[in-house]
Amino acid sequence: MAVATQGGEGWSSRWAFVMAAVGSAVGLGNLVRFPAEAGANGGGAFVIFYIFCVALIGLPVLLSETLIGRHGKSSAIESVKRVAAESNASGWWSVAAGVGMVAAFLILTYYSVLAGWIVYFIGVFASDFAGAIGSGAPFAGALPDRTVEEVRGILPALQADSMTMLVMHAIFMAVTVFVVARGVLDGIEKIAVWLMPAFFVLLLSITVYGAFSGAFGAALEFLFAFDANRLLDPTVQLSALGQALFSLSLGSAMMITYGAYASRETNLAKTSGQIATADTSVAIIAGLAIFPIVFGAMAASDVSAVLSGEQQVQGGLGLLFINLPVAFQTMPAGSLIGLLFFIMVVFAALTSSVALLEASVSWAIRRFNLSRPVATLILGGTAYLIGAWASFSFNSQAEFTPLDFLIFSGQPVFGIIDELTAKIMLPVSALLVALFVGWIADKKLIDSENGLSGGLHLFWRFLVRWLCPLVIAAILLFGLFPGLLGN
Ligand code: TRP
Repeated sequence: MAVATQGGEGWSSRWAFVMAAVGSAVGLGNLVRFPAEAGANGGGAFVIFYIFCVALIGLPVLLSETLIGRHGKSSAIESVKRVAAESNASGWWSVAAGVGMVAAFLILTYYSVLAGWIVYFIGVFASDFAGAIGSGAPFAGALPDRTVEEVRGILPALQADSMTMLVMHAIFMAVTVFVVARGVLDGIEKIAVWLMPAFFVLLLSITVYGAFSGAFGAALEFLFAFDANRLLDPTVQLSALGQALFSLSLGSAMMITYGAYASRETNLAKTSGQIATADTSVAIIAGLAIFPIVFGAMAASDVSAVLSGEQQVQGGLGLLFINLPVAFQTMPAGSLIGLLFFIMVVFAALTSSVALLEASVSWAIRRFNLSRPVATLILGGTAYLIGAWASFSFNSQAEFTPLDFLIFSGQPVFGIIDELTAKIMLPVSALLVALFVGWIADKKLIDSENGLSGGLHLFWRFLVRWLCPLVIAAILLFGLFPGLLGN
């Protein structure tokens, strides 16, 4: 029962909707950004606040976004406009979706560059594994012919080599454009339905492997240790909120767009719960897969310094591209695990990048009356160019930090786009969505879409009306201007 939007497109089943939405949610945000942010913000406190944000802010907003989409049955902006019109409210509320759509587009620009690095590492480990088979030791450690320093140098060398980086970025963007150009049913749904199950099998295998061979206890302690001081730190809170929204693909017009392709029979509350659970589990499981491997390769004294908060986990993005490859070097079957790991990451990245592109493509098709392939090529091409420019911030522009204030200080272009989207645009868009659904939109219309009843329904209404707007606004304010709290 394919259900049509105005353009006649829709998912073939609820399963396909869940896979596509989970595919959009699960991505580099879970596998790269989550460990990096958790590492930078001291682990436990960040993770706890992140889970709080997912449950009490992310989930209600997720339901709000999907229901706007399903009722509006159009691009994100048009869907908000329609719900506003039926509620006798101003069409200006569509700014919520507009901000989100621009954010999704901006995220795509650097997402594809990052995913390009993953493609490169697949190449590195594929040739390494081929070599290992050739030398008759397929289950040996990875990259036996390189020193640790050389392995640590793979990412910096790639970043200094703009040509290679642009080619990888081009490969990834080309595949993204190809999939989106084929349409919702033949492109986006198809890859989600194939790649997501494969992703889960890979993730579980690697986690089990990590649990047996790495420092699992230290990772558990790091990720869940309770630290009340940090829990109250507004910059940690803003990071956690930004991560929760980013990871669930909220505040980026995304879930409105995909909601439009969902059928009337779909229970949106239940589906939202499944999406949020799957996404959050993947982030935590990814943490439990990555940190044991990383800690396992660190000196014991460094691990205890990290756990006691005296030292930060080195890395950020480097966790995945520097610490992990170093760990794979000395692990049994490291070559194969490394290859599978990066293949898994690229699967997750691709199902997200197609969604990032679809958010603006679905708008451009209707707004400018373009064919899908043309809209896809223009927008994908533009995102490619911006990403290419931003990627120079890794070498020639290392000193180029155009916005030297607030959370942007000292950040190169790449970091600025990330901070601007995750910590400002996504929260602003989510805030507007919550205000719109909680206060402005017609109550009967909302109630007929949300699939909730009884106490749960009242609780959800309370969350969207009060908790979400207040908490998001407060976190935004104090996270951006920690000085307001007087310290
Ligand atoms: N959720 C994605 C991730 O975790 C990133 C993301 C944010 C996204 N907003 C989006 C993906 C919109 C698709 C569409 O990697």
